[in-house]
Amino acid sequence: MILFHACQIFLLLASHFFKSMVLSTQKSEKIVMDKFIIEGGNMLHGTVRISGAKNAALPAMAAALLTNEDVHLNRVPSLADVSTMVALLGKMGVRTDGPGSGPLSMSMTINASGINTYEAPYDLVKTMRASVLVLGPLVARYGSARVSIPGGCAIGSRPIDLHLKGLAALGARVSMYHGYIDVTARQLKGTRISFDTITVTGTENLIMAASLAHGTTVLENAAREPEVVSLVDQLVRMGARIHGAGTATVTIEGVDRLHGCSMDIIPDRIEAGTYMIAAAAAGGEVEIADCSPDHVRALLTMMRAAGIDYNETDHGVVVRKERSARIKSLNVKTMPYPDFPTDLQAQLMALMTQGDGTSAIAETIFENRFMHVPELRRMGADIRTQGNVAIVRGETKLMGAQIMATDLRASASLVIAGLIAEGTTEVSRIYHLDRGYEFMENKLSGIGARLKRVKT
Ligand code: EPZ
Repeated sequence: MILFHACQIFLLLASHFFKSMVLSTQKSEKIVMDKFIIEGGNMLHGTVRISGAKNAALPAMAAALLTNEDVHLNRVPSLADVSTMVALLGKMGVRTDGPGSGPLSMSMTINASGINTYEAPYDLVKTMRASVLVLGPLVARYGSARVSIPGGCAIGSRPIDLHLKGLAALGARVSMYHGYIDVTARQLKGTRISFDTITVTGTENLIMAASLAHGTTVLENAAREPEVVSLVDQLVRMGARIHGAGTATVTIEGVDRLHGCSMDIIPDRIEAGTYMIAAAAAGGEVEIADCSPDHVRALLTMMRAAGIDYNETDHGVVVRKERSARIKSLNVKTMPYPDFPTDLQAQLMALMTQGDGTSAIAETIFENRFMHVPELRRMGADIRTQGNVAIVRGETKLMGAQIMATDLRASASLVIAGLIAEGTTEVSRIYHLDRGYEFMENKLSGIGARLKRVKT
């Protein structure tokens, strides 16, 4: 019987993975306009298993461009953004085989030996700006990259000037041409680079580029996210010589070549934090399993301050909340890791609508990351924004409504609001969610949420 269930789960996962891969090729023609219908009011009970991290999988896939040998990745989440990266690598002639064996592990093997173009085209970059992560590896390994300038997105202008400044400092020639960036270099040379602003993918791009440069590169004011540490772990397995990952100063001694490797994608701390906040908002008792409590330390500190009961287990966190228990309002400021992450700001705001007073939430990373505010207001939330600060008055009773997702994490905020609202909430454009949350409807329904996906 167990074998039967395991096969069922594998077939579900495999079909979902292939469907999302197929979707990504159809994406340019038709964005799938599914929606979630949520009946609010249920408390949540049970276990949510956290998937591999989107923001670790994407650089891990790009790093495969640094070698001609197989890079084997396990625990790759089945997400639209992963499918987009598969499509982008495929367009370059890079082979990606997956999913791999094992009923629950989505694994893939990437081999770049057949690469025949060094270009990231507009239609894929505009879908996923993390496509820019191919820049550093392409220039370092092939001496050439042509990447469409990633336009802005819902949350901000998202420039990549720091990526380009760093590559130029390593000796690359950078030019702009009809909406594309051309970057060429005969041989990158190690140097010292200090980032004006902490940039996660900027740090990742330059670590990958410097890993094949001649000489030593020192990155100052580098990003310290777990996804950066995970990328460095992978590069070291591929033969790179890198020290200081996870600190503000990373030193890379360039080597002549890198070889293949096998790597497990780290758990998604933002997915884990999203479900912790959902459990705190809806009430009940939920184990968020297969995640690293250390990666969500800033959120756990906030939850303790809000009076939310939780305990850490050896493979996750259990969140408990009585329906009658009060939630204390908080003042929160988003900052680079290890402080409170911008990617959990929208989700925390949904929770703070249930706070016992007034909360001030300051967004310091992106200039337009309050797109969820008007939608939450439509559900009855009392939120007003002053510049980059949102003032949230609790405790407000939320009412179900027809609302629209605008970006990945704002969508998660709206789902959390729907779980606690009275009546029915309809969240449209949930293709935003499919970019970064694996099987969200299955995971939430599995712990008692009344939520279903409707295809339109
Ligand atoms: C990464 O984006 C994540 N994406 C984002 O997650 C996350 O929100 C962000 O880091 C901040 O933690 C991936 O890892 C794929 P940044 P990234 O460069 O690297 C400015 C999600 O929801 N900046 O760290 O693009 C920039 O405008 C996504 O999963 C420059 O000015 O973000 C921003 O204000 C959303 N010039 C700040 O730095 C540059 O060249 C931080 O951006 C680069 C960045």
